[in-house]
Amino acid sequence: MFDDGRLCFGGDYNPEQWPPSVWAEDIALMRQARVNLVTVGVFAWSRLEPAPGRYTFDWLDEVLDLLHAGGIRVALATPTASPPPWFSVAHPGALPVTPEGVRLHHGSRDTYCAAAPAYRAAALRIAGALADRYAHHPALALWHVHNEYGTICHCEHTAQAFRRWLADRHGDLAALNEAWCTSFWSQHYSDWAQISTPRATQYLANPGHLLDFRRFWSDTLLAAYREQRDLLRAANPALPITTNYVLGDWVPVDHARWAGEVDLVAVDHYPSAVDIGAEEQTALVGDLARGWARHGSRDPAGAWLLMESAPGHIQTPGRMHTKEPGRMLRHSLAHVARGSRGAMFFQWRAPAGGAERFHSALVPHVGSDSRVFREATELGAALQQLAEVEGRVEAGVALVVDAASGWALHHPGLPSPRLDHRQETAAVHRALWHAGYGCDILPPGDPLDGYRLLILPALYLIDDTTAEWVREYVAAGGHLLATYLSGVADEHARVRLGGYPGALRDLLGMWVEEFHPLAEHDQVRLRGGGSGRIWTESLRLTGAEVIDSYAGGVLDGRPAVTRHRAEAGTAWYVSTRPDADTYRRLLDEVTRCAGVTPVCPGAPAGVEAVRRRSAHGSWLFLFNHTDLPQQVPARGTDLLTATPVDEAVRLPPGGVAVLREH
Ligand code: GLA
Repeated sequence: MFDDGRLCFGGDYNPEQWPPSVWAEDIALMRQARVNLVTVGVFAWSRLEPAPGRYTFDWLDEVLDLLHAGGIRVALATPTASPPPWFSVAHPGALPVTPEGVRLHHGSRDTYCAAAPAYRAAALRIAGALADRYAHHPALALWHVHNEYGTICHCEHTAQAFRRWLADRHGDLAALNEAWCTSFWSQHYSDWAQISTPRATQYLANPGHLLDFRRFWSDTLLAAYREQRDLLRAANPALPITTNYVLGDWVPVDHARWAGEVDLVAVDHYPSAVDIGAEEQTALVGDLARGWARHGSRDPAGAWLLMESAPGHIQTPGRMHTKEPGRMLRHSLAHVARGSRGAMFFQWRAPAGGAERFHSALVPHVGSDSRVFREATELGAALQQLAEVEGRVEAGVALVVDAASGWALHHPGLPSPRLDHRQETAAVHRALWHAGYGCDILPPGDPLDGYRLLILPALYLIDDTTAEWVREYVAAGGHLLATYLSGVADEHARVRLGGYPGALRDLLGMWVEEFHPLAEHDQVRLRGGGSGRIWTESLRLTGAEVIDSYAGGVLDGRPAVTRHRAEAGTAWYVSTRPDADTYRRLLDEVTRCAGVTPVCPGAPAGVEAVRRRSAHGSWLFLFNHTDLPQQVPARGTDLLTATPVDEAVRLPPGGVAVLREH
């Protein structure tokens, strides 16, 4: 019912922020721009339930009817990410508590503890009231549960729930003490009641404790989602249900685990770089989202939806950067190329007030006579022309991402504060992207058929099952590239003894004796002419050959990159973070040995190519990220301009083409 064959285009629509006189214009403009899906009600709790149990649905009735009459479908949200002031006043014990024990107050959003029974009950009540009233409304295409699950709390409700979760996970205290290595610093627990959440403490906290707290929150937030989902599903089993993922290692959500619980993986993406980094991040997020969708649905194509993005700006850590003309289209289609069933935005119309008053919108403050709205209209038309695109993204490389490894590398007490699984993933993904290789991102344990190269980017936590999964892949002839710290610790973040990386050392034909972390701006030279940063190590070889060595410094002449023939396969190891050019040269060598080829070998540097293939055909997306015209040898029909291409696609600076290939 959700997928009606069209690509989705639209965004968060907040009619509760506007007088009804604006609604008719909204619908007219949406039709003009070819908007076909809007998320409604995501922060409307106080307007839907102004007092406990008293509902005011009249305005939403009218809005949904208007949208339906205008041919615009609705992702109806449950508004539970922002409880109304009356809730906080009535249930102060359900307000969130920081690690320092400070109770936060109303005044923003997400002011609740998702482990507090009063919050869960109130959330279910408003979700149930919406389900009763709208589950069969003809405008509805999708339920959108909550918004960006990701909050943490340290209150007493949380502590109790955490203890129950720990008892389920570990069985008894002896197992927990073992997993957390509590003999260190006299932390041995003799009663469950002694365990609190990892609150602010005197010095370094226990890594096992920190890691389990993240896992607990992922499961607790998932339980909160499931409660709402099950209630909505009971009201109309035909309507699909999703929730929008927020990205970042700070989020206590294991998105791969959650993917099996949603009918559609939906992702919010806001790049933080203004240069080509924004395009790199876009590609990375598209590949991540598709990997979650494939993991959850077991559908090789892995359809997902870009649920939010910013129409007109990029939010950098310091300022808002206005997107250059054409960038909204490029970013949107780059997500579609990677499997998104459309492009959705936060938000439809820019509000006059409220915390996000200057956030960009499809209809900006100035109104529809604006560049952003004109570009939105062009995007709406482009998406309509791409409805036929389907199938699997061509990818010969599999990159492994694991939420727990990301969390564990943020723990205190590690040998360097610059260790970061997501950054390491981004670095290798970036190198693959610039060289034009298609890449799937997947969680440990997913099927590896068809991949010629498996990459573990600082995959710090490797349990025995994952180690065996990697070993079998290599034994069967696969190529493995592991970067530093992969497999150093087990699933409890306990270091595997006997030479790092314990989980992989036999496969790699070497072991690491000592770490030599680098200072923030340090760079280490390699004898092959390249350089590395962040990390170096002293390696001891047990069968691996040296591919590159350190040049200068304490590790002068010692191996930096190694390769080992292991059974029918090959295992490469990289003991530093290669700089961009070094990484690209290394990957050229690794992919050549592994037999991985670029998606479009004739594409010039700066032109991104993504190919989708199904039983019905193949489609080639081309993005010119340079400021010069470019030409790419190809044949087919450009769907955006409906023109045949006989020999080569000509792309203007910043141009995009989508070819149905012959
Ligand atoms: C998130 C939220 C939106 C909005 C945007 C702003 O993705 O879901 O409500 O706050 O960020 O970028």
